[in-house]
Amino acid sequence: MEKLTYTHNADAAAVIAQTYDTPPLAYVRSYGCQQNVNDGEKIRGVLMDIGFGVCDSVEQADLILFNTCAVREHAEQRVFGNVGALKKLKEKNPRLIIGVCGCMAQQKHIVDKLRASYPYVDLVFGVDGIDRLPAMLVERLHRGKRYLETPVERNAVVEELPIRRDSGFRAWLPIMYGCDNFCTYCIVPYVRGRERSRTPADVLAEFKTLVEQGYKEITLLGQNVNSYGKGLEEKTDFADLLNLLCTVPGDYQIRFMTSHPKDASRKLIDTIAAQDHLCKHIHLPVQSGSDRILKEMNRHYTVAQYMDLVNYAKEKIPGVTFSSDIIVGFPGETEEDFATTLEFAKKCGFAKMHIFPYSKRKGTPAAEMPDQVDEAVKSERAARLAKVDEELHQQMLQSTVGKVEEVLFEQPVDDEHMEGLCGPYLRVVVPGTAELANTIVKVKITGIKEDFLLGELN
Ligand code: SAH
Ligand code: SF4
Ligand code: F3S
Repeated sequence: MEKLTYTHNADAAAVIAQTYDTPPLAYVRSYGCQQNVNDGEKIRGVLMDIGFGVCDSVEQADLILFNTCAVREHAEQRVFGNVGALKKLKEKNPRLIIGVCGCMAQQKHIVDKLRASYPYVDLVFGVDGIDRLPAMLVERLHRGKRYLETPVERNAVVEELPIRRDSGFRAWLPIMYGCDNFCTYCIVPYVRGRERSRTPADVLAEFKTLVEQGYKEITLLGQNVNSYGKGLEEKTDFADLLNLLCTVPGDYQIRFMTSHPKDASRKLIDTIAAQDHLCKHIHLPVQSGSDRILKEMNRHYTVAQYMDLVNYAKEKIPGVTFSSDIIVGFPGETEEDFATTLEFAKKCGFAKMHIFPYSKRKGTPAAEMPDQVDEAVKSERAARLAKVDEELHQQMLQSTVGKVEEVLFEQPVDDEHMEGLCGPYLRVVVPGTAELANTIVKVKITGIKEDFLLGELN
């Protein structure tokens, strides 16, 4: 693995200054997971570093970049739809640069399709192109021709990329990139490459900066944070990293995602129990409640092992809550398998389930499996599981009444009320004014209104 450091590209800044009379504007839209959102923030940072401003409407933009997600077909179709809608803008303004980057652009068949059928898309690069974006723009502007990169895997970690964050109090902090797990349904290992961790020193330095800048909720990111540290020179693991970060003084909460159940250790649970800075809510995607399907998915744990972990956490961490991702309609999933998943979800009492109808991904083993499930069956199962999710959500709201929760306040609801989120991402509204924004405050939960909680400052 190669470690690289971003450096300012003065040539690119000069080319941008010569090309445009006033600073050009970039519209960057990210799809998909938090990792991608964080990449989008870095893309904006890099563009600003060479003289761009940012804007949030395509009509104003000189550069439009879609930072895409490939995890499900639906996500890809949406991007093609949105790119297609830009054709008219390009006709009106031939100088407009339209770009597609991120996970979709890391697949050759997608780049081929963009090359052949979307001639007005003139900049394409994959997930590892952010630091090279200034040089690519120079190519595009100088040559006056389209610049489309054929995806290659780079196996590098780039440090010190400039960043323009979306929020002033919630921040994303990647601790590792890529994934080595190859769950049979998933495209991520193919587009994001092999697992590679940032060093504890680099993570700590960024973390300290975030705390100094006043960020109150810092979410550590990785496709499987539990395998953090593999391949690094110094011997370390995810729990060690958490303990290291918690030595930083300040008023903040740490969250993390995603934690793969096969590698979630008791040491990790003990660490969450011991450290006040660690949020007592764990996102632990189970994917299915059927052992047979879990095996077909290549997940490397059983339902019983998952339950053991949940029970251990409940014993060690008072009030701990869980959320999960669940795929319905994986190839070969029978009504019986699905019924087991429904029951299992109820037993775990998830605070939130993210439910995904299985989507065939070209190049993954599951796409070739027999017994693909009908779309109608997938939708029907997704709806049944969503109903359980709704019931569990209501139960979670009810069980929170009377408790004291730490709430990170965000914005006013009106002149007299503020809202924020507590541990399991439940919305809480209290009497209060904008001064509460970006503070973590203990709130006594007093009641429920519609799908959120009411409370009073404790
Ligand atoms: N690394 C994380 C998940 C990243 S992808 C983990 O292992 O938990 C986010 C979620 O998308 C996955 O948890 C899974 O539920 C869903 N997903 C991934 N591939 C999918 C596919 N082909 N069809 C439907 N859902 C999928
Ligand atoms: Fe995909 Fe599995 Fe890796 Fe998560 S752990 S990104 S689901 S292959
Ligand atoms: Fe999507 Fe890429 Fe994330 S495929 S889920 S944006 S890693």
